[in-house]
Amino acid sequence: MSQILTVAMPKGRIFDEAVQLLRKAGYQLPGEFQDSRKLIFDIPEEGFRFILAKPMDVSTYVEHGVADVGIAGKDVLLEEERDVYEVLDLKISPCHLAVAGLPDGVIKDVAPKVATKYPNVASKYFREQGEQVEIIRLNGSIELAPLIGLAERIVDIVSTGRTLAENGLVELEHIANITSRFIVNPVSYRLKDREIDEMVERLKSVVGE
Ligand code: PRP
Repeated sequence: MSQILTVAMPKGRIFDEAVQLLRKAGYQLPGEFQDSRKLIFDIPEEGFRFILAKPMDVSTYVEHGVADVGIAGKDVLLEEERDVYEVLDLKISPCHLAVAGLPDGVIKDVAPKVATKYPNVASKYFREQGEQVEIIRLNGSIELAPLIGLAERIVDIVSTGRTLAENGLVELEHIANITSRFIVNPVSYRLKDREIDEMVERLKSVVGE
């Protein structure tokens, strides 16, 4: 008998693409999935329980084993460095992490301020560049920071580039390319290897189609 897999899904911008990929892989998912406010969906016919998490929390659920597998942005994996296996690049939701700021931004401070949702990624990046900065952690609307003088620069996701352009900011440095990844809890991989391998194979067959 097959065991149920608990799958942590990221709510928000990756969600629709992730659901589309699962459907392409042949999984029958209910229509209400996308529009509901429910946080847990049981789909026993497909052998799944889905939990709908904040994108930044997906790898936390998987590390703690309350989800066996999950779909998480590489940005989250770089920031959180959780103890999970990254087994497949799903190649969905492509974007990149970048340093941005005002086009004529003059940096006078000894340790200029950098606002970001990704304090670990940003600290590591500037350390590697040999630059001393002060990191200011924000939870969203990062582009506000240089506009109102909270920080000289930001580290954030750039997808279409619209948010930067519409706020008069420019990209200064490219940090890393990002796509969504299929991640697995190491213990689950031992205990539910058959179910997880099947899911990976089915996803593999539709990635990049
Ligand atoms: C993300 C990111 C940028 C924007 C980039 O924010 O933090 O602000 O999207 O996308 P673009 O290049 O296509 O404009 P999100 O919409 O997730 O909201 P947030 O500002 O609350 O983090």
